[in-house]
Amino acid sequence: MDQNKLIVSNWKMNLNLSDSKKLINKLIKSTFKKKPYLKNIICPQFLLIPSISNLIKDSHLLLGAQNCHFERKGAFTGESSIELLKQFNCKYVILGHSERRLYSADSNLLVKKKIKIAISEEIKPIVCIGEPLEFRKNKSYLKFLEQQLNECVPECSEIIIAYEPIWSIGTGLVPDYEEIYEVQNYVKSFLKNNKFIKKISVLYGGSVSSNNIAHIIKKSKVDGALIGGSSLDDKEILKIISIL
Ligand code: PGA
Repeated sequence: MDQNKLIVSNWKMNLNLSDSKKLINKLIKSTFKKKPYLKNIICPQFLLIPSISNLIKDSHLLLGAQNCHFERKGAFTGESSIELLKQFNCKYVILGHSERRLYSADSNLLVKKKIKIAISEEIKPIVCIGEPLEFRKNKSYLKFLEQQLNECVPECSEIIIAYEPIWSIGTGLVPDYEEIYEVQNYVKSFLKNNKFIKKISVLYGGSVSSNNIAHIIKKSKVDGALIGGSSLDDKEILKIISIL
């Protein structure tokens, strides 16, 4: 593996304080730090961020959040600010995940605002796009993805897109490598129309495991993976890392 790859753990609303610390300690001790081409980014629940930030301080691990608010501060009960993410050393933030689009009504417009505020604080957005199954079946998925890209991505110099087909998340179903390749190629060529963008990375997410990671990365030519379920299990995530 000669190019930089991003392995993003999306813990979602899982792991308590002690289990998250155990997992982080195992990752810190792993031989993974000898793979400088891999960026291992951990995205825990908000309340875990302060302790994880402290634990990984001198390690090879990087910290990300699973969401951010689009305003800097104010009367937004129950929200957490981008300023705090920055203070706790979050370098990345996952935005527009399909679960947030579904359960928290994150629209393309809202995602765009969140991307802008993240970039203004030098936190790199990992922007999720992905089609529901019917759009894959009727072959209109590229149009669907194009609309998401069009409406979400602002003028910016660098962007990370995570292609996560909704039908693949947590289901064990993974698109063919050619299908992932097609999308990553499409995303890169579509975003080249945005004259401000200098660097585009495309990740794949959806049922990534130690059984499919090698093929996904090599055959689909993606720049990394966004990993949900498999990132919660120390043996599985360490196996994934060891394969790369
Ligand atoms: P999964 O989730 O790996 O459990 O399918 C991926 C994601 O939702 O980011």
